[in-house]
Amino acid sequence: MSALDAALSKQYTSTPMRILVTGSTGGIGSAVKAAARAAGHEVATFERADFATPGAMDAIPGGLDALVFATGTCPVAPLSKTTPELFAETFRVNCALFLDLVRHIVKTRKYSAAGMTALAISSVSAREGWAGGAAYCASKGALSALCRALDAELATRHIHIEALEPRYVKTRMFDECAGRMGVDPSLAQAPEAFAREILAKACARGAAASLRLQEEAGLAGGAAD
Ligand SMILES: NC(=O)c1ccc[n+]([C@@H]2O[C@H](COP(=O)([O-])OP(=O)(O)OC[C@H]3O[C@@H](n4cnc5c(N)ncnc54)[C@H](OP(=O)(O)O)[C@@H]3O)[C@@H](O)[C@H]2O)c1
Repeated sequence: MSALDAALSKQYTSTPMRILVTGSTGGIGSAVKAAARAAGHEVATFERADFATPGAMDAIPGGLDALVFATGTCPVAPLSKTTPELFAETFRVNCALFLDLVRHIVKTRKYSAAGMTALAISSVSAREGWAGGAAYCASKGALSALCRALDAELATRHIHIEALEPRYVKTRMFDECAGRMGVDPSLAQAPEAFAREILAKACARGAAASLRLQEEAGLAGGAAD
């Protein structure tokens, strides 16, 4: 995070935001939810059952300042077991669900007047390969690329889309995947620490957006005087 982002984040962490968190039954999502609530932000969640329920997105509240997409699956499968079905399902969960959510939020204008920051938890696997990770690495590479494209497309609406690419975070997924692959658990970051980084980034972006809105309102007011 830049020094400006860090300063804005510190100043505005206490400014309440409305945040939608997905994957909040998981390690990273639950830590984000807890940190956000502890900081006084309003948190709505969207989980596995919601994604599987037609029309469930209609219940997502409006006025969103931030979306944290922490939904994800990490199959570890050699090429021979990377079936078309496994590949498609990994892409659906890790990438297409994020696209569906952003499309819904933009279409129904559920973002705040100042815009919105959407942070998708991608992975260092978007850029690095490992044996057994064909579906996962490909889906995370696609998610990171998707974020760059959406960020470019939605900039005029002040919607900022960014992929975060952590390496190891000590969660159920780490225990089931990286842990099983023999990665030293001491290399894994605590989910609470990563959640603070995520929240700080969302707050910094939210702060910059509200400052811009205030400036625009001031300019408009000035012009009318
Ligand atoms: N942990 C790491 O080292 C690490 C490193 C890099 C990136 N990441 C990424 O961080 C994100 C969060 O991972 P985590 O470590 O917090 O894992 P986690 O504890 O296993 O949580 C995964 C979350 O995704 C949800 N989920 C899984 N399959 C789903 C499906 N088919 N439909 C809807 N929701 C589904 C889970 O819901 P249920 O509780 O219902 O299963 C849970 O809420 C993932 O995208 C992961 O790839 C993690």
